[in-house]
This record gives sequence, C-alpha cells and structure tokens, in this order.
Amino acid sequence: MLGLLPFVLAALAGTSSAQTTTYQAEDATLTGVTVGTSVAGFSGTGYIEGFDTAGDEIKFTVTSASQGLYDLKIIYNGPYGDKYTTVVLNGAGGGQVALPATTDWVTVSAGQVLLNAGSNTIQIQNNWGWYLIDAITLSPSVPRGPHQISTTPVNPAANSDAKALLKYLGSIYGKHILSGQQDQASLDWVETNVGKTPAIIGLDLMDYTDSRTSRGASSTDVDKAIAFAARGGIVTFCWHWGAPVGLYDTPEQRWWSGFYTAATDFNVATALADTTNANYTLIIHDIDTIAVQLKKLETAGVPVLFRPLHEAEGKWFWWGAQGPEPCKKLWNLVYDRLTNHHNIKNLLWVWNSVAADWYPGDATIDMVSADTYTQGDHGPISATYNALLDLVDDKKIIAATEIGSIMDPAQLQLYQADWVYFCIWSGDFISGGQWNSLDLLKSVYNTDYVLNLDEIQGWKNPTTSTTTSVRPTTTSSTTTRTTTPVVTTTTSRIVTTTASPRTSTTTTRSTTTSVRTTTTSSRTTTRSTTASATPTAVAGHWAQCGGINYNGPTACEAPWTCTVLNPYYYQCL
Ligand SMILES: *[C@@H]1O[C@H](CO)[C@@H](O)[C@H](O)[C@H]1NC(C)=O
Repeated sequence: MLGLLPFVLAALAGTSSAQTTTYQAEDATLTGVTVGTSVAGFSGTGYIEGFDTAGDEIKFTVTSASQGLYDLKIIYNGPYGDKYTTVVLNGAGGGQVALPATTDWVTVSAGQVLLNAGSNTIQIQNNWGWYLIDAITLSPSVPRGPHQISTTPVNPAANSDAKALLKYLGSIYGKHILSGQQDQASLDWVETNVGKTPAIIGLDLMDYTDSRTSRGASSTDVDKAIAFAARGGIVTFCWHWGAPVGLYDTPEQRWWSGFYTAATDFNVATALADTTNANYTLIIHDIDTIAVQLKKLETAGVPVLFRPLHEAEGKWFWWGAQGPEPCKKLWNLVYDRLTNHHNIKNLLWVWNSVAADWYPGDATIDMVSADTYTQGDHGPISATYNALLDLVDDKKIIAATEIGSIMDPAQLQLYQADWVYFCIWSGDFISGGQWNSLDLLKSVYNTDYVLNLDEIQGWKNPTTSTTTSVRPTTTSSTTTRTTTPVVTTTTSRIVTTTASPRTSTTTTRSTTTSVRTTTTSSRTTTRSTTASATPTAVAGHWAQCGGINYNGPTACEAPWTCTVLNPYYYQCL
C-alpha cells in the first residue's frame, strides 16, 4: 500500500491529456445549479452557475484503478468577487478552497486527494457561492526526488550533541515519525494509559523569565528535560515569553497571559528600533536569563530542539504582533545573543511560521515546523507540510511541533507528509478523549512507522548501537513532491491552511499551560475575551463561526447551524 504505483485513472465522461484528466462540470450530477453558456471561454459545452444556496453542489464521480494520490484543480470564473468553495472527497469532511475574483477562466489548485481504488466522489459545494465552475482536473501527484535536507547545524560551533541530534533526525526523515508529548504530566499520562513512552518531550521556558518569576512563577522544566534525556529521550523547548514590561494585568488580561498580544502594550518594533531604548535592554536581559537555563542543558549533555518566537505569523503573541520585520529582527537577535555572545552550542533552531515573508533565512534555522489544530482530523496535514517544503526548498527537516489530534501513520505515508516528529499539546488535547481516543492513541503508538523512546535508544551514538537501525520501509525512495498547498483532502476530512481554527486553539492551550503553573482562574477569564464578529459575512458549511479570539462571521448560511464544538471552535454544521 506504500509508495507510488503507476496510476490509471479511468475517466467517466472525462478527457485525458498526458496524465491529466478533465471532468466537465456540465457532465456531473447537479443539485440546485444549472448549465450556463453566456460567459465565453469555457471548455466543453458549458459551465455551472447558480451557486447561491446551501445544498447547491456539483458531484463528480471519478474512478481510479488503484489507491493513489492526485493533484486536484478547479477551473472557474469569479465575476462576483473573492469567494470560497468547499471540496468534499468521498462524502467525508470538507475543506475550503479560495476562488479569488477574476473575470477570466482560471485554474486553481485544490491540493491533493487520495483516491480509493474504484469509484470516488468529489463534491464542489456552495460555501460562499456566486462563482462559475467549468471543470475539475486530476493528475497523479508528481514524484518528488529524494529529500535535499541539510543535517549540519547552522551554528558552526554546534557541539557534538547538537550535531548528533540533527544527524539522527536526518537518518529517520521520511522513514519514520517520532512520537512526542508536551509537558511532563501529559507524558506521564501517555506512559500510564497508552503503555508507551514518547520519544520526545516538549517543555517550556515560560516560567524562567522576569515577567513571571517576579510574580511568583517558577519552573522545573529544565530538570525534567535533563531527566528525560538521561532516559535516552529527545527534548524540545518552546518559550511563552511574557512581555518584559507593559502587561495590563487586568481581570480580563491577567499577567500570566503576558505573552499574548491582547495582554500587553509592549511594542516589539519600537523596542528593537534603537539599541539604547530601555525596552531593548529588557529584551536582552530576558534572553540572558534563559541563556542560563540553556547553558545548564548544554552542560548536562542535552541538545535542545529550540523553538522560540513560535506561531509568530498568527500575531496573537507580542513577538508577531507588529508583523514579520520586527519578528525576524528579534529572531536574529535571540540567535546572535545566545550563539555568539553566550556561546551556547547545544541548540537546534526550529522556526515555526509557514509564510514566506516571515522566514528569517536559512543561515539561522536548522528546522522548520508548524503548529496545527483541527479537532478530530487525523489526516496528515499535508497541505501545511508541502507549504513548509516549498518555504525551505526541501533543505531543512520539517516537524509538526504542536498538534491536537494525532496523525494517522498510514495517511502520513500515503500523502508522504514526512513530518519528522509530532508533539501533541498537553492536558485535554492528549487525555480528554475529544481530540484523541485512547484506542487511536494506542494504535498509533504501536505502529512501526512511529518511533517511541524504547526504539530510539542510542541515537547519540548510532555506530555503537543496534537499536537505532532504521526498519526498511517502502516510502523512503518514492516520495512525492507537490507544490500547491491550498487544501488537502483526506479520506476523513479536508485540512485547510487557513489560520483561524489554529488561532483559537492556540490561545486555549497556551493559556491553559500558564494557568496550571500559576492559578486556576484564567480559563474562565479568557473565555470572556471572545472577539466580536464581522457582521457582514456569512460562514458556509464546515466553516468556523465562533470561538475565543475568532473574529470572522458568526452567522451560518442556511440551513447550517453554528455549533459549539468547544469554547474555542464553533463550526457551521
Ligand atoms: C517600553 O514599553 C512600555 C510598555 O509598552 C511602554 O509603556 C514604554 O513607553 C516603553 N519604553 C520606551 C522607552 O519606549
């Protein structure tokens, strides 16, 4: 079932050109829409118009000789402005595809679809409506060559521990995924309930900086990291960096939320504009404070997958609030201060935004990554993986540094979404049962493709160890490269790259983390911060329609109802 077989797509009412098969919309099954001919330039005998009501759709039936991955494209015209449509594969889930305004007939990527052997359906559903659909095309995803990744740390002075870690990750990249879990308590829960120990522990430098220690917070995460490394595990740290000054600390925005843009008026652009600014000095001071902790880890022989300034592009943390330029400047400052001033040598630098204009550049980055949360979606998040692959031209290893629902290893391999590790966020995300059932966790943790703590022993010295040898798989030499990550369709649900669901869930768990270490009242407080909606737009079927920090449309298109899935994510269902 692995690897790319030669696909034969038997077209029903389709026309083939090379390996691309075109399906005319006018030949598909139509519901609530009609065939038009007045806008010239369409292919076939017409196009489909009249998308104006929920339930309107085109249903294509496509047959594939074997299971396989295809690039899906939509040919459309958009005379009524920017719209979204919804694409559904085999009746499950639904993902949005943007159809930007155009008065020409334009081809847009709708990501990849994994077709089953035999008959499949692809539905184009109304969502925003008011666009014209001419046809869809399917072509087998183009084979990707071997990965071009670098496994030498960007810091020329990196120590042997950091070098060994990056080399080890390179050795399993595309062949396995490492299991990972954020937070010691949640990792303990996995050990007890799943019966396996993750290969990676995720920890936080949050409670080591002044804005929190000065208010009574403290942390033992560095000690936990050293203990986990002593068991042969791998360590990653993020840093919920509380703004050094300017915290509101009001009942709505308490000090422990000080890493949020909403909780501080600290302006990173102003602070960095002038090295004599008092706030510049405070930033340096905070970096120096965590340098002490990172040095402890270095001394203890623990290399760190270090992920500061995470989720910057989301702008919900102050380091991203002023846009990409100040954020990149801050990244360079953190890198330079720790690497060249403090001579810290045990770090691998993990960048955590996907957008190209946020990328600080290859010279200071060892790995790239993304955090994605879609409750109940166990798909491979391949649209985001492919976006990261493009971002770094396949030169850096890619990790799923925070997820909510665990990925199905079979789909990871079929979509060739070669995330080197996943790290499930703490608390309810792992143990609450809503994001992941215990049965599924057990099944994933027991899959050969997933490497746990017992299977990575000796990774630092692979030549003297037999346990790090990589099991043979059929995926390593037959990888597929796709370059158009708009939406990924999986057999269960479609994953989109839109950020709003991520925004809300990110808010949730970060706050939860801070609550745990400080006080118990912030969850309720945070819930009251739900942003007001834009009154004009209406959300389509499957779209988000509410939740904390969400500020899109809250009304659903008829007949869908805005349904509360959790306080942070409401969906039109
Ligand atoms: C430093 O940041 C604080 C909080 O935003 C602000 O009130 C203050 O004016 C800033 N100081 C300087 C010198 O810019």
